Amino acid sequence: MALREIVKIGDDILRKKCRPVTVFDEKLHTLLDDMTETMEQAQGAGLAAPQVGMLRRVCVVNVRDKHGVIELVNPEVISVEGVQTGNEGCLSLPGEWHEVDRPAKVTVKAQDRNGEEFTITGEGLLARALCHETDHLDGVLFIDKAKLNND
Ligand code: NI
Repeated sequence: MALREIVKIGDDILRKKCRPVTVFDEKLHTLLDDMTETMEQAQGAGLAAPQVGMLRRVCVVNVRDKHGVIELVNPEVISVEGVQTGNEGCLSLPGEWHEVDRPAKVTVKAQDRNGEEFTITGEGLLARALCHETDHLDGVLFIDKAKLNND
C-alpha cells in the first residue's frame, strides 16, 4: 500500500464526473488499498477517487462504527429519508467546516472490489459520509450544498 497525494480545492479534477468501473482487477484493488491508507493517515471519514487524481467511481468511507472501512465501487444512492443538519468538512478543503443538510438515512447500492453488488443503509454520520463521497464522483463538493454564512 502507498499513500497518495490528496488533491486540493482549485484543481479541476474535483469538478469532473467520474467514469464507472468495469474491470475489477489488481489495479482497482491497489487503488482501494491506497485510498484507505490515505484516508486513515489523514484521519478522514471518507475519500473519493478524484481526490487522489483518479476519475473513477470509487470511494472509501470509515466513520468508526461497526462497519469499519467500507469500499464502494460504482455507488448509487437509491433511497433517502428525512433530513439532518450538521457540520461537514472535506480532506480537499482543509480547515473548512460548514453546516450541510443531508438525508437522515440513506441507502446506497454499490459493488465491492470483486464486482459483487451490495446495499448499505446508514444513518447519522454514515449517511452524511455516503452522500458526501458519492457527490464527489459527480464533481459536487460539500460547499455547493453548505449554508455559508455571508452576513
Ligand atoms: Ni470530501
